[in-house]
Amino acid sequence: MLKLAVFVSGRGSNLKAILNSPNLKELVVVKAVVSNKADCKAFGIARENSIDTFTLGSGEGKVSYDKLNDLLKSLEIDLVVLAGFLKMIPADVVRTFKNRIINIHPALLPSFGGKGMYGINVHKAVFDSSAQVSGVTVHFVDEHYDTGRIIAQRCVDISGVKSPEEIAGKVLKEEHKLLPFVIQKFAEDKIVIENNRVKIIN
Ligand code: GAR
Repeated sequence: MLKLAVFVSGRGSNLKAILNSPNLKELVVVKAVVSNKADCKAFGIARENSIDTFTLGSGEGKVSYDKLNDLLKSLEIDLVVLAGFLKMIPADVVRTFKNRIINIHPALLPSFGGKGMYGINVHKAVFDSSAQVSGVTVHFVDEHYDTGRIIAQRCVDISGVKSPEEIAGKVLKEEHKLLPFVIQKFAEDKIVIENNRVKIIN
């Protein structure tokens, strides 16, 4: 079983999609849910599923960012999944888990990414640009926001939408399919890097 740590900060719908995915049941186990927000809704989902939660930061009961690497190593984590986590992952963790940290972004990178581009901000920028297509990107994480190699993308037709919220709803549906799909391929060892490009093999 592939051991996952899922990093969250909000409602945790992608965490739920991972936990409920029938294709992942025999392949992965979520060992830890990590957040910088002790009161996030996603922690409730973790607890309902008897998964240990860890809050990042300083102070009583928290894990400091410079101890994160040790924590992930001690839990023998194979894959770190950022599912709505908005903070930068420390460089030592990125180095230790090279090509073993993935992030889901609610737009088609390399457009509409970077610092401050998260959640509804992304969908507002997409809406204001009058783009007719948006989508979902799952990519490897490097030391910058949203610049790591792209693993998989799905497009969403937004030509008829009337609000950023409507885009968010359409994109989220695809997120809940694409993230478990990529995790499954990772668990099956079907994600390879060739000539600096990521390839998913069948
Ligand atoms: C998701 O839409 C995810 O793509 C986005 O945060 C949301 C988390 O929702 N992530 C980013 O914007 C990262 N730049 P969830 O807590 O319901 O999974």
